[in-house]
Amino acid sequence: MHRRDFTTHLLRAGALAALPLPAAERQPLRDVANARHLLAGAAVSYRELQREDCRALLAREASILVSENDMKWQSIHPAPDRYDYTRADALLAFAKTSNAKVRGHNLCWHQQLPRWFPSTATSGNAGELLRAHIAEVAGHYAGRIHSWDVVNEAVFVEDGRSDGLRKSPWLELAGPSYIDLAFTTAAKADPQAILTYNDYDLEQDTEAHEAKRRAVLALLKGLRARNVPVQALGIQSHLVASTSPYQWSGFHRFLDGAEKLGLTIFITELDVDDTALPADIADRDRQVAACYQDFLSNALKHHNLQAILTWGFTDPDTWLNHFHPRKDGTPQRPLPFDGQLQPKPAYFAMEQSIEAAPRR
Ligand code: G3I
Repeated sequence: MHRRDFTTHLLRAGALAALPLPAAERQPLRDVANARHLLAGAAVSYRELQREDCRALLAREASILVSENDMKWQSIHPAPDRYDYTRADALLAFAKTSNAKVRGHNLCWHQQLPRWFPSTATSGNAGELLRAHIAEVAGHYAGRIHSWDVVNEAVFVEDGRSDGLRKSPWLELAGPSYIDLAFTTAAKADPQAILTYNDYDLEQDTEAHEAKRRAVLALLKGLRARNVPVQALGIQSHLVASTSPYQWSGFHRFLDGAEKLGLTIFITELDVDDTALPADIADRDRQVAACYQDFLSNALKHHNLQAILTWGFTDPDTWLNHFHPRKDGTPQRPLPFDGQLQPKPAYFAMEQSIEAAPRR
């Protein structure tokens, strides 16, 4: 049996957790993706970047990387008049040696703002603070970033505004035009990076996700109509495994809408929250993998999808253990590699969905 058929068979049979596949016998995911003109990779923390075994794994598997935290305002702009590029530069240096592209995350967000921000930012200076930060940071990395998450998570329908925008410090201090300002400033500072709007909760066929999709699409339409240089949509894809599989009609309509606007699409932060699944590891890994496969095989139907990144790559380092711990106290298993850096069923689900993707 061909290895791919064998993998499919095992995935269906739920036996993949036990499949021994030495790294030397596997084609790296980056090569599988490259054959489909796709980029594949992951978010990386500074701690992981210090580990030789993680570097080797990433060098082998990832053609695109993003810093989990080190390009955010809090890390890169620690004082009003000081920028610290140490950690982010280390990622770029590693990416250069491993011939991987780097996404920039992010230039404008309501979270992980520096401690000095609340006492310094006012309605009088917020626009200029944003402009200066983006000009400086995107300028520092000009020509070296594949794509920037210029604005992250600006939509939050639950805040009750008719335009669906989040009542973030940026909105409250600078007004809704802060989004236009962020993109136009980024375009000036780095004309080569693909300028991206990035958000979450866009995947499921629920009323809440549908409302968010509507608001995000309306935002993107407005930006394009005003000739604001937004070029890509980043879909975070923090999925939640459940016993009832997702339906994808709303998601497909949404991606069709983004494609009509001429936007490139990236899956930017893929992982699968397993809090609703039983503790048994083989069962959990199988259901998480099924979720990866279901999602990716749907997303990959869209030709504008160019890159797939998971949010982290080994289970022990997932943000989910801090933000959404399992009730039974066992650690979550949301990512393609386990703590021994061995590929899990989710890895093979990624590989298989990418191999099966229509040519682009
Ligand atoms: O920097 C401090 C460090 O000094 C301190 O010792 C340590 C003690 O806990 O905390 C460190 O800060 C933490 C930071 O991660 C770096 O590890 C923060 O407490 C913690 O809140 C922060 O969490 C990050 C989170 O964004 C912030 O909202 C997660 O690692 C990161 O995975 C997560 O990533 C976000 C994306 O940027 C946007 N989309 C959603 C995604 C998941 O929330």
